[in-house]
Amino acid sequence: MTASGLDETTVRVDLAERSYDIIIGENLLAQAGRHLASVLARPRVAIITDSTVAALHLTQLQESLDAAGIQNDVIIIPAGEGSKNFTQLQAVLDQLLELRIERRDTIVALGGGVVGDLAGFAAAILRRGVDFIQIPTTLLSQVDSSVGGKTAVNVSQGKNLVGAFYQPRLVLADVSALSTLPERELRAGYGEVVKYGLIDDFAFFEWLEGNGPHMLDGVPSALAHAVAVSCRSKAAIVARDERESGDRALLNLGHTFAHALEAEAGYDGRLLHGEAVAIGLDMAFTLSSQLGLCPSQDSARVRRHLERMGLPVSASQMGLGTLTADVMLGHMRQDKKVSQGQLTFILAKGIGQSFITNDVSEDAVKEMLQAALQTKPASTRS
Ligand code: GLY
Repeated sequence: MTASGLDETTVRVDLAERSYDIIIGENLLAQAGRHLASVLARPRVAIITDSTVAALHLTQLQESLDAAGIQNDVIIIPAGEGSKNFTQLQAVLDQLLELRIERRDTIVALGGGVVGDLAGFAAAILRRGVDFIQIPTTLLSQVDSSVGGKTAVNVSQGKNLVGAFYQPRLVLADVSALSTLPERELRAGYGEVVKYGLIDDFAFFEWLEGNGPHMLDGVPSALAHAVAVSCRSKAAIVARDERESGDRALLNLGHTFAHALEAEAGYDGRLLHGEAVAIGLDMAFTLSSQLGLCPSQDSARVRRHLERMGLPVSASQMGLGTLTADVMLGHMRQDKKVSQGQLTFILAKGIGQSFITNDVSEDAVKEMLQAALQTKPASTRS
């Protein structure tokens, strides 16, 4: 039991000798020392965090580590996607080496996706690999980026194009940390939560239709349930396809479109990743229904839910009103899932019935994009 009475949930990511637990609950930062002690090779860690998260959560984490006798140093990077680059990676590696972080020490990533991806990549290459632990503090990182071992930095050619698969030793998802998250970020993180219902879990989608608003109200039990279901779903997919040679691509439902929108918007906070994912999910279902694969009632239901949750469903809502289908397709061709010039799509036969295909004509995609990029959401149509 946690201090406020919500039970902790443990989700196991089964990857043979790289297996690890995701612990989900309330007030876990205050108990981090106890949880970390059980997996550390020796009681010494370097915490990597950003300036925003440090002000909110670092003291609590350090007090807990101190109480458990775990020596801890801190590296603070500037907050924001702009930090996920080679310059910042080099600066972090320099500091880790100056701190003499050794093979048996552990790097702790405290923060959202940027911190987790950068710290994870640093851990993967420092001294050819040191252990690392994820303590995600955003909804998006708790349900997606902290789990499954994808680490990366962005380069001028695109997002996450240089990185490594490198699994953490433990993930601590403290839903109490979400109470300090700006409302827009919580909502954006929801875009990744709803994805799991759409991939293969219709019952979860129905639960979200009823309980999504409670999550945005910050109800801990609703948040903990959604994080646990999302992590269980992701853990199962990662366990059967760690390096994305097959099923793991399902986790990219909506993401080929989302990454193209983000590339166009830039990474300055105008369009958050989860907002781009929401628009991408809507596009994936629209395309599926236009191709006659998915009932139009299902794509309409997905759009209704996203709109009800206050998520964008069109690029024009996010200031991308002049984006054309050709420009969007140009960005999509840089996607990591492009194989021999062929784009891979995650489409759906219905809610909870997604599948991977290379068999989509570019003309059909272009037609969908041309309509979608002109379409205003129902709420703003005159
Ligand atoms: N975020 C998608 C994946 O981890 O595979």
